[in-house]
Amino acid sequence: MTDLFSKFDPLIQQREELLSNGVTDPFNLVMEKVESPTVAICNGKRTILLGTYNYMGMTFDPDVVAAGEKALQEFGSGTTGSRVLNGTYAGHKAVEQALKDFYAMDHAMVFSTGYQANLGIISTIAGKEDYIVLDIDSHASIYDGCALGNAQIVPFRHNDIEALEKRLKRIPEGAGKLVVLEGVYSMMGDVAPLKEMIAVSKANGAMVLVDEAHSMGFIGEHGRGVAEAQGVMDDVDFIIGTFSKSVGTVGGFCVSNHPKFEILRLVCRPYVFTASLPPSVVATAATSIRKLMDSADKRAHLWENSKRLHAGLRQLGFTLGTTEPQSAIIAVIMPDLETGAAMWEALLNEGLYVNLARPPATPAGMTLLRCSLCALHSEEQVGEVLTMFAAAGRATGCIN
Ligand SMILES: Cc1ncc(COP(=O)(O)O)c(C=O)c1O
Repeated sequence: MTDLFSKFDPLIQQREELLSNGVTDPFNLVMEKVESPTVAICNGKRTILLGTYNYMGMTFDPDVVAAGEKALQEFGSGTTGSRVLNGTYAGHKAVEQALKDFYAMDHAMVFSTGYQANLGIISTIAGKEDYIVLDIDSHASIYDGCALGNAQIVPFRHNDIEALEKRLKRIPEGAGKLVVLEGVYSMMGDVAPLKEMIAVSKANGAMVLVDEAHSMGFIGEHGRGVAEAQGVMDDVDFIIGTFSKSVGTVGGFCVSNHPKFEILRLVCRPYVFTASLPPSVVATAATSIRKLMDSADKRAHLWENSKRLHAGLRQLGFTLGTTEPQSAIIAVIMPDLETGAAMWEALLNEGLYVNLARPPATPAGMTLLRCSLCALHSEEQVGEVLTMFAAAGRATGCIN
């Protein structure tokens, strides 16, 4: 018998080597208690959370929590069925209406996760004779959506407008084309030049899908994302998003103005062949989305936090993923995995949680300490974070 697990041996060995140095496993941390969107207890210690996707701090919002409790009482703990059978409750329609209102778009389709939204939409709309042109740094769910479908996949260099144009021009005349972009790229926290890329895509006859997972709620005047901030909402054919970040719960969606969009509910397998979201989840999501429409002050404070942290980390001597803060994600580039893990642990011991990100999730084989800010981080907390980075950075030799 061939052990099917032998393919994992190099990874098992790398993990064992890392942990043999006595370092805490960075991928197995337990949040023993979560006190607020910005503070948890980890290893018995008060820990500032700087590695969540809770950008707008909605997880403990009293209205959001109350909506979930009410739905749990009134509709029970789960739907036990697909959206196309018994799994569409009033709450699923209500959250889809909230999304249509939030984006000012005609159609909204809710999936059980953002991962499934990409899987479902990409694999369903791009068929055998079609081409998907995508940024090489696209999220795993975009790649998996491509893998699930039958279209030809054409990657182009990250955020490179000319490379996108060249790829598009090489596609045979008359073929269906879908360009897949992200508003904010989650590893480095950088923003796509959507305006230029969408213009190039449209000039070459392609439809455009933008994943706005990390910009919803925060970027753009109404929090609709990078497409809104760059004034190109009307040229985007499909926006993919998630409830697991700014919305503060779990679920995914696609919004669109395409007149035939609703047919996807019958042909999109990751929508049809899975159970729908629990009533409590869609109720919390709908309440949160409606509150996000009216959150300009929180958006402004989150920008302040992002700028403050970016400037402070640069001043301390860390190398960052972007020269200017472009989103709520600030990536600190580590020289290697061992130093990254040591720095991650030193920060945790100081009382700070960040994400340790490593290949294959990261571009160019980089190890990153990803910091993601929350609109509810106070100015004092950002100050505390910088003090902890200074201490951990000096202790591990990352800075002088
Ligand atoms: C760009 C992007 N798209 C989609 C997803 C998937 O979202 P979800 O957590 O809802 O599955 C993520 C999650 O990290 C993401 O970063």
